[in-house]
Amino acid sequence: MRAFPCPSLPFCSSGNFLHRAPSPAGAVTGRRPGFPLVESPMRSHAFFADAPSALPDLECEERASAPTLSLVAPAPQWVAPGLTAKMAAFLAEEPQTPCLVVDLDVVEDNFRRLRAALPEAEVFYAVKANPARPLLARLVGLGSSFDTASLPEIDMCLDVGADPARISYGNTIKKARDIAAAYERGVRLYAFDAEEELEKIAQHAPGSQVFCRLFVDNKGAQWPLSRKFGCSVRMAGDLLRKAQSLGLEPHGLSFHVGSQQNDPGQWDVALSLVAGLFAELAEDGIHLGMVNLGGGLPTPYGAPVMTVEAYGAKIQETVGRLFPTRPRLIVEPGRYMGGNAGILETEVVLVSRKDQAEERRWVYVDAGRFNGLAETEGEAIVYPMVSPRDGDPDGPVILAGPTCDSVDILYDKSGIRLPLSLRAGDRLRLLSAGAYTTTYASVGFNGFSPIKAHYL
Ligand SMILES: Cc1ncc(COP(=O)(O)O)c(C=O)c1O
Repeated sequence: MRAFPCPSLPFCSSGNFLHRAPSPAGAVTGRRPGFPLVESPMRSHAFFADAPSALPDLECEERASAPTLSLVAPAPQWVAPGLTAKMAAFLAEEPQTPCLVVDLDVVEDNFRRLRAALPEAEVFYAVKANPARPLLARLVGLGSSFDTASLPEIDMCLDVGADPARISYGNTIKKARDIAAAYERGVRLYAFDAEEELEKIAQHAPGSQVFCRLFVDNKGAQWPLSRKFGCSVRMAGDLLRKAQSLGLEPHGLSFHVGSQQNDPGQWDVALSLVAGLFAELAEDGIHLGMVNLGGGLPTPYGAPVMTVEAYGAKIQETVGRLFPTRPRLIVEPGRYMGGNAGILETEVVLVSRKDQAEERRWVYVDAGRFNGLAETEGEAIVYPMVSPRDGDPDGPVILAGPTCDSVDILYDKSGIRLPLSLRAGDRLRLLSAGAYTTTYASVGFNGFSPIKAHYL
C-alpha cells in the first residue's frame, strides 16, 4: 500500500489526514504486475463513513495546527475516491493508454444525491467539466438542466435532447452573434457582469431573463475562479436596474465560490451579499427571484472531502436564514458531477535519475499537462494514484508528462512517492479524473493525441 502526499487541506475540525489509496486486493499474474479485477474495499464506488475515524482503508493522522472550517454537523460525512467494478473490469483488458474511463452510474448517483441534498435547487450541470455525449445524454434522462459556456456547448446539449428552456448561457463573455444564435435556439437565460454585455443581451436576446454574477472571495478553493469574473455588489445593483430599463427581466444573482471549494462556509459569505442586494433592489421595486449558487462542490482527490449532503444541509440552512421568501435556487456542479466517476489510465514511459547520487527519480507517463492534466498547474489538483506495484517499497519522485516541453511536469513539490520497482511499461492509474481532463487536452501538441475516453 502506498502513502499519498498529504496536502494541507482544511478537511475537518480535528485535523488533516495522512491517507492511503484504496489498495488493490491482489495482483493478476502475467508479464507485468496487474491491477485486480475486483473493486477496492469500499461500499459501492466511494466511501461513505460517518466520521474520519470510521473511514475504511484510510489512515488518519492528526496534526497539531489544523485549519478549521465551518462544520455542518458534529460528525460530517466524508467521501474518498474509488474504482467501480465496471471500471476495473474494463481496465483489466488493458485499453490503450492514455485513456479516461468514466462510469456513468457514478455520475447518476452523484446527480441523485445532489438532488436529495438540495431538493429545492435545480441542477444545471456545468458542461465544461466534461461535455461527452453519453454523459450529457444520461443527465438529460435524469432531468438535469445545463450551464453552458459557448454556442457549441449549447448545441451539444440540444443534440442529446435538452430543452432550451433548461439551458443557461452562463459565460459572462459572449459574442453578440452567439447570443443571437442562442436566442434563436430558444435559450432565455443569460449571465452578465458588465454593462456592455447587458446591452448585447438586450439587443440580441430581447426580453430574456438575466442574472448578474457577483465577484466573491474564493478562499478555500483549490482551483480559484476569482478576479476574471463577476462585479461588485454596487455595480451589480446598478446593472440590474439598467437591465429592467432595457426591457430584460432582472432575474437574479450568481456567484462562484471557486472550484473544489473545501469550505461550505464560503456559500454563507456569498449568500449574505446576495441577500443584501435582493433587499436593496426590492426597495426600488425590482424583485429578484433567483439565486445561482454556482459550482464549487468538491470531488475527492488526495484527501477525503465532505459529502454533498453536508454541503447541502449547510447551504439550505443559510438560504432559509437569509431570505424571507425562498428564491428559485440553481446549482451548477461541474467537478462534483463527473470527477470521481473517471479514472485516467496512463503508462509509465521512463523512470530515470539525473545523477546516480540522486534519490528522487523522474517518472514520465504518457499523459501530461497538454493531454488532459492541465489542472496540475501549480500542483493545485493532486490526483490520487494507484500502481500495480503498490505494496513494494517506495521512494520520492517527480512525475512528468511525455512532451518535449519543460513545463510538462505534473508534480514536483507535492511529495509524491511511487514504488521503487516501478518501470517503463507499467500502468499508473489516476483516480477522480472524470472532470476537467479530456476537454483540457491540446489537439496534438508534440504529436500526442487528446486522451481517448470510454463511457461505461
Ligand atoms: C459559471 C460556472 N458555473 C459552474 C462551474 C463549475 O464549477 P465546478 O466545476 O467547481 O463545480 C464553472 C466552472 O468554471 C463556471 O464557470
